[in-house]
Amino acid sequence: MTFAKISQAAFYVPEQVVTNDDLAQIMDTSDEWISSRTGIKRRRISRSEATSDLATHVAEALLTKAELSASDIDFIIVATITPDALMPSTAAKVQANIGASGAFAFDLTAACSGFVFALATAEKLIGSGAYQRGLVIGAETLSKTVDWSDRSTAVLFGDGAGGVLLEAAQSPSFLAESLFTDGKRGASLTSNEQPLQSPFSDSSEADAFLRMDGRAIFDFAIRDVSGSIVNLLEKTGKTPDDIDYFLLHQANIRILDKMAKKIKAPREKFPANMMAYGNTSAASIPILLAECVENGIIKLDGSQTILLCGFGGGLTWGSLIVKI
Ligand code: ACO
Repeated sequence: MTFAKISQAAFYVPEQVVTNDDLAQIMDTSDEWISSRTGIKRRRISRSEATSDLATHVAEALLTKAELSASDIDFIIVATITPDALMPSTAAKVQANIGASGAFAFDLTAACSGFVFALATAEKLIGSGAYQRGLVIGAETLSKTVDWSDRSTAVLFGDGAGGVLLEAAQSPSFLAESLFTDGKRGASLTSNEQPLQSPFSDSSEADAFLRMDGRAIFDFAIRDVSGSIVNLLEKTGKTPDDIDYFLLHQANIRILDKMAKKIKAPREKFPANMMAYGNTSAASIPILLAECVENGIIKLDGSQTILLCGFGGGLTWGSLIVKI
């Protein structure tokens, strides 16, 4: 039987730092408002790098860390809601950029749950025995889809990318998963609607920008997402004590605080970095994971158990319990 394990993690963010004070120069907001409601202090915003450029940096870093060449990679999945284009996919561009000519590559769209959905998919690809190694990357340039005239959303998001190398292994490390979608509530978080525009179509309205019902999303995270984590722990006979770290999507510090309470786990087990990067959607969990590896909190030696949880547009949400 073949299993999959996470063997490396890496992240890359654009160089330009935009602070809350910088935003206050161009819109009616303040560091006090943004910090107190979201925890966010600054974010990275791309000047010229596309989503595929950010993802390519991550792919290269993963290969370097693992001392592998691009020809060792069987597949590349990029989770993103801000692809360079729908065609070719961002993953196909990464494949070309790193020269992984033997790898198949595709994008996966599940908003802020994208990385968790992609990792769950990749684990099955390797678990099938057909593939040995894959890159799973979350990458976003949300700055291009945010409405910069709407202060209620513009202050929340940032650009960045993170990812992991997934490799075949002898023993299981993906211990449990639960993935959900509720399309009926999709209207509470939308972006990049595409209008019908052929000469044969009725004219249709479409909003290109990211729009959000903040209150609805807040409640969704606290109620549905926390509940799904509690259920997954119960279903697998685990308690919060069995989890070393909960790596949750980095939307908002108040969401994180409340979710920790609902799950009844010590807040110290929930690392956070939205202060530095804002909400980077599909990139937020792998950036956090790679930072935790970099600063030694997560060791990647098979001795720890983590719970990864993404939640966002779709609505989508999902968790993985992984021995890492
Ligand atoms: N600066 C200053 N004032 C602002 C800003 C801003 N950037 N944005 C909104 N306001 C004002 C509003 O206009 C409103 O003013 P009013 O009372 O005069 O009408 C006031 O602040 C309160 O607005 P609310 O939207 O009620 O603010 P709230 O306290 O609910 O906080 C927030 C908004 C932070 C978005 C909150 O709803 C939230 O945390 N939601 C979770 C959603 C989230 O984080 N989404 C991220 C994307 S989704 C995801 O990743 C899953």
